[in-house]
Amino acid sequence: MPPPPEQQAVELRSAEAGYPLRPVLRQLTASVPQSAITAVVGPNGSGKSTLLSVLAGVLPLTAGTMERAHTSRPGFVLQRSAVSDTFPLTVRDTVTMGRWAHRGPWRRLTSHDRSVVERCMDRLGISDLAGRQLGELSGGQRQRALVAQGLAQEAGLFLLDEPTTGLDIRAKEGILAVLDGAAADGVTVVQATHDLVAARQADHCLLLRDGRLVAQGAPDVVLTDEALRHIWDFPVAAV
Ligand SMILES: Nc1ncnc2c1ncn2[C@@H]1O[C@H](COP(=O)(O)OP(=O)(O)OP(=O)(O)O)[C@@H](O)[C@H]1O
Ligand SMILES: [Mg+2]
Repeated sequence: MPPPPEQQAVELRSAEAGYPLRPVLRQLTASVPQSAITAVVGPNGSGKSTLLSVLAGVLPLTAGTMERAHTSRPGFVLQRSAVSDTFPLTVRDTVTMGRWAHRGPWRRLTSHDRSVVERCMDRLGISDLAGRQLGELSGGQRQRALVAQGLAQEAGLFLLDEPTTGLDIRAKEGILAVLDGAAADGVTVVQATHDLVAARQADHCLLLRDGRLVAQGAPDVVLTDEALRHIWDFPVAAV
């Protein structure tokens, strides 16, 4: 018997999206496999963050279609520079906000909510920072708090925009291990990344250039030297 067709968490067909007077994604036909890790790779400005906003449902398509297998709100960890650190929130508050998707901000948290929050802080190695203000953390510590927040949402689709950019090797490996664990638990993970080592460890890869999909598939098939040269217009052995 042939193997069952791969289950897709998201299917985009001829999708187009962008901002007022600035079309970005063009004729994008791509899929995101379920319970696996997808890496979105491409140069600055190629549309990675825009694509994640589309997958998150916060940016509407202007043409084409998107089918999503998950009906609950996706978890979404924004690109680092986009997150303000001026709110007077502790790390525990921040991670707890991940539970609002289930309870709403004004409902009492259940003991289950609390244990999810503690477990997610533990998995990201930030339990000792729980009482600290988000704004007084280092960039890497803050990033781990934001990943813990997204994880605490326990969404079927977990989107992360460059979650390991600027992190030291240990923090980076810690986050990648958390994403691997989430995928093993059945979560569909999509991460935009400039880290080709991380991208090569993913199950599936979407390669973008100028808002168009250049290639998709297994990372070793997509991230060839030739494709990368074509994308960046110069040898990228050192990228
Ligand atoms: N809010 C916005 N309003 C208008 N244009 C935007 C907005 N956000 C992004 N753009 C433009 O859309 C294009 C794609 O941007 P996007 O942020 O998706 O790229 P990216 O691949 O995530 O880049 P990076 O690697 O720098 O994060 C760029 O030309 C950018 O200038
Ligand atoms: Mg981006």
